[in-house]
Amino acid sequence: MEMYRRTFAEISVENLIANWNEIKKTAGSNRFICPMVKANAYGHGDIQVAQTLEHEGADTLGVCLIEEGLLLRASGLKSQILVFRGFDKHGAQKILEYQMTPVVSTWQQLQILESVADDPVKVHLKFNTGMNRLGFDLDQSEQLHTFFKNSKKLKLKAVLTHLAQGEDAISEIGFSAKQIEAFLPVVEHFKSMNVYSHILNSGGIASLAEVSIQNKEHRYLHRENWGFRPGLALYGYQAAGNFSAMTLRPVMTLKSVVNNIRSIKSGESVSYGCSWVAKRDSKIAVVPIGYADGFHRLISNKGAALFADKMAPVVGRICMDFLMLDVTDIIGDDDPLKWIEEEVVFFGYNEKGNLLSAEQVSQLAQTITWETLTSVGERVPRHFKGLKKL
Ligand SMILES: Cc1ncc(COP(=O)(O)O)c(C=O)c1O
Repeated sequence: MEMYRRTFAEISVENLIANWNEIKKTAGSNRFICPMVKANAYGHGDIQVAQTLEHEGADTLGVCLIEEGLLLRASGLKSQILVFRGFDKHGAQKILEYQMTPVVSTWQQLQILESVADDPVKVHLKFNTGMNRLGFDLDQSEQLHTFFKNSKKLKLKAVLTHLAQGEDAISEIGFSAKQIEAFLPVVEHFKSMNVYSHILNSGGIASLAEVSIQNKEHRYLHRENWGFRPGLALYGYQAAGNFSAMTLRPVMTLKSVVNNIRSIKSGESVSYGCSWVAKRDSKIAVVPIGYADGFHRLISNKGAALFADKMAPVVGRICMDFLMLDVTDIIGDDDPLKWIEEEVVFFGYNEKGNLLSAEQVSQLAQTITWETLTSVGERVPRHFKGLKKL
């Protein structure tokens, strides 16, 4: 895409591969892994991320929407694609036509699949163990077992559940432990069918990595060879602050360049609502990125960006297309023209390799890293660094 505004998200393919290798190292051999590339690969660009992972050995990819899966198929992805959201009859036909694998949560979905399938269909069966979002109730397990034993068309390949609080999976008495304990009878039930059981999201995977380096036997995490469904970890962030066994590197850098620099007098205000008033004569850098690009307005007057390897505070309200930084202490009495087009990093790495983490930015925006990454707007082009020509 032609770029007239130099605001973009740089995607480090090298870091993505390094994170994927860390996850695979934690998985060891013979473990089911479904990297989650839903929501445009957490904002990173699903086609390129999926192509990279497939090239690096992934054989399954996780999406939420049928539409996301169709896009991957149209881009030539050959991996198994798990569709997590569910489907109606029309959706089921699309899933089958494009050889995707449905994650099923209701009897109605099973009936729909039976009615539209001509050939045998692989199915992953989801159970609710406490998230209370999607999935069969646990007491349906026996009936479902009988159903799959008798079904000519539907072939059960996996049972799964989703952790509501994966960051506590390291504890043997936390909510995750309770969920896993509740899921164990289901796993036992379907053992004779030789299916995978997948549970662990980034929090669960990181917990397994932590107990493994401490050589501890965990009552629940080591109980089965639980399959992995990594999302956030793949994109370089820890699901909880106290995890460190896996070395993860942020994949996305959100950056722009200075549009212009204004000199303002003490007492003058900046931006809508006049919420920031200069206490001294100040130099204000105007940068062409705003809340329409996914840089949350809640960060107004709180956040800071990396500018000339220093933290420059965001001053005044973040606008739809612009924000302003106080760079007085950084540029001093320099000719402002010298600083036009200077790089500004909102999260990720600057040219010197120093990191401003999306986690820090998320705290200021009163949100989580998952939201900060997936919020980066459609009009921000993704630049892939180190993308292999496949
Ligand atoms: C069903 C399911 N599995 C796995 C994940 C990945 O979670 P995380 O990004 O915490 O690794 C998600 C994300 O929301 C999910 O919905």
